Amino acid sequence: MYSNKQPSSLFLYDKIDSTNLEAKRHASAYLEHPKVFIAKEQTSGRGRLNREWVSSSKDGLYMSILFNSNLPSSNISSLSLISGLSICKSINKFANNKALIKWPNDIIIENKKVCGILLESIIYSNKLSSIILGIGININNKKFENELAQKATSLYIETHKIIDCKNVVQEILKNFSFYYNRLLSNKFGEVINEYKNLCVSINRNVTIKRLDGDIEAFSKDIDSKGNLIVITNDFKEMNINSCEVVVQGIY
Ligand code: BTN
Repeated sequence: MYSNKQPSSLFLYDKIDSTNLEAKRHASAYLEHPKVFIAKEQTSGRGRLNREWVSSSKDGLYMSILFNSNLPSSNISSLSLISGLSICKSINKFANNKALIKWPNDIIIENKKVCGILLESIIYSNKLSSIILGIGININNKKFENELAQKATSLYIETHKIIDCKNVVQEILKNFSFYYNRLLSNKFGEVINEYKNLCVSINRNVTIKRLDGDIEAFSKDIDSKGNLIVITNDFKEMNINSCEVVVQGIY
């Protein structure tokens, strides 16, 4: 179970394929305490939809938290939202409160991405799973090349301050534990309200990217499970839980 009252074991690497892959190699139904994996560099960093997560710069933070959870697998959307909220709040401590969330859990500053989250799970039975929360944050990157220059930013670019990654890690572990425990104690309704205050994806024109084609829509709200409620251009209401949603005007 996740709690920062229990000791978490910390694994540090100069270079690894991916901290999420390493976390999966350590996953077991018998894991008692969370394990945290941090690398200075990843050779095979992965993002959502199996996209590459550029991880060659030592100025980034590449981190995965592995823990076991009793939550039913249907709670993965809620977990995804509390990850976004807790990491946005952590980043805000170092970013003069400029960070916001693009649903479900991309963190942006000035409409550019500063952090991506890859949440994965291994299910052992209906009720027990290992959760792998992979977090990539652009911390001290001075600039980005090519197409990333349009889409990505870093804490350094936004604040002109060099930030010690250790402090960011500590803040993430503290905040994630706090919000995870809110989820366990059925306080997700309150958490959603906090999430909505930081979320840029509500009341916007959006494009929902689906395998069978794009859908243009207007995003109305977030429901009690963390799904995005949209009204399509032909007036159908849909609750979206896993598709990629492009918000017009954001990277
Ligand atoms: C995304 O926005 O697509 C998610 C990016 C997640 C990147 C992090 S970096 C640490 C961990 N290891 C990986 O291979 N991916 C995640």
